Amino acid sequence: MNTQDIVILKDQAVADIRAAGTPADLEAVRIKYLGRKGLLPVIMEGLKDAVPAERPEIGRRANEFKQEVGQALDAAKAALTAASSAATRGHFDTTIPGAWRGLGQLHPVTQVIEEAIRIFSMLGFTVADGPDIETEYYNFDALNTPGDHPSRDTQDTFWLDSGELLRTQTSPVQIRVMESRKPPVRIIAPGRCYRRDTTDATHSANFHQIEGLYVDRKVSMADLKGDITFFAHQMMGPNVKVRFRPHFFPFTEPSVEYDFSCHVCGGVGCRVCKQSGWIEISGAGMVNPKVFSKVGYDPEACTGYAFGMGVERIAMIKFGIEDIRLLYENDIRFLSQFA
Ligand code: PHE
Repeated sequence: MNTQDIVILKDQAVADIRAAGTPADLEAVRIKYLGRKGLLPVIMEGLKDAVPAERPEIGRRANEFKQEVGQALDAAKAALTAASSAATRGHFDTTIPGAWRGLGQLHPVTQVIEEAIRIFSMLGFTVADGPDIETEYYNFDALNTPGDHPSRDTQDTFWLDSGELLRTQTSPVQIRVMESRKPPVRIIAPGRCYRRDTTDATHSANFHQIEGLYVDRKVSMADLKGDITFFAHQMMGPNVKVRFRPHFFPFTEPSVEYDFSCHVCGGVGCRVCKQSGWIEISGAGMVNPKVFSKVGYDPEACTGYAFGMGVERIAMIKFGIEDIRLLYENDIRFLSQFA
């Protein structure tokens, strides 16, 4: 094989490489030219038979052949791989198992609040809001709470250096709402409350209440009892019983505390209700005329009821939770049970 033959062979190899459409075609071309039984060994073999004067030139051509064909093969292989990944990109392989993403869910406390909003909106209530950091006026004075009332004591209230405080109840929202609108008023106000309580199975220094306020011309205690009972049945089911006990609050007169029968044991007695069959939800009553005077409402013209609701208490009996602390630990194994 002379130098001319080698050049022709090289051109042919390059043409074959161009024609190869798949990696397998390309491999066949490589074997044909550079393989152990291919054409390159034939060229090398021919070197021996060549006239000594031509040998260096043939040797040079043979090397050139090996190098250029090798490079052309590499380039073609790279181009084929790039083309095939471009072709699959953007396509969706339905046979590959999907990655599972855990779905989040609402916290039981949030679930109770959202359900309460839904229930009271059926009765025409809208949602109002107030700040967690309150003044002494809104949390106590405007609510007719005398200066020597024990709840003002530092035992119960978190006071701030500014003289403000962390609200101990959602009742200040009553005042803010009445100051800003004329009757009739029908609002609920869910939110966080803070008290210097020692934490145990049923107490937490930070808890949630839902305040309710309904002011109009002839609102009565019967409205209060009816609406709270309607709420209880919607929230807990038709078998829950509601009980009202006489009580005292400075901002309502008369005042009550009210309980729901324990949903966990059906009222027979269990750990959640401390064997009593009842769970205290919060307080309520008819808005004290002194409070109306403070906000500029005419106590002769309007009457109203107000109530509080302990959200955690409701969540505990609704979901059968024995310890309030479980609600704040953010343990996903616990929380995921209430999807
Ligand atoms: N704010 C009272 C409490 O936290 C509950 C309450 C609200 C009582 C509205 C009467 C009227 O105990």
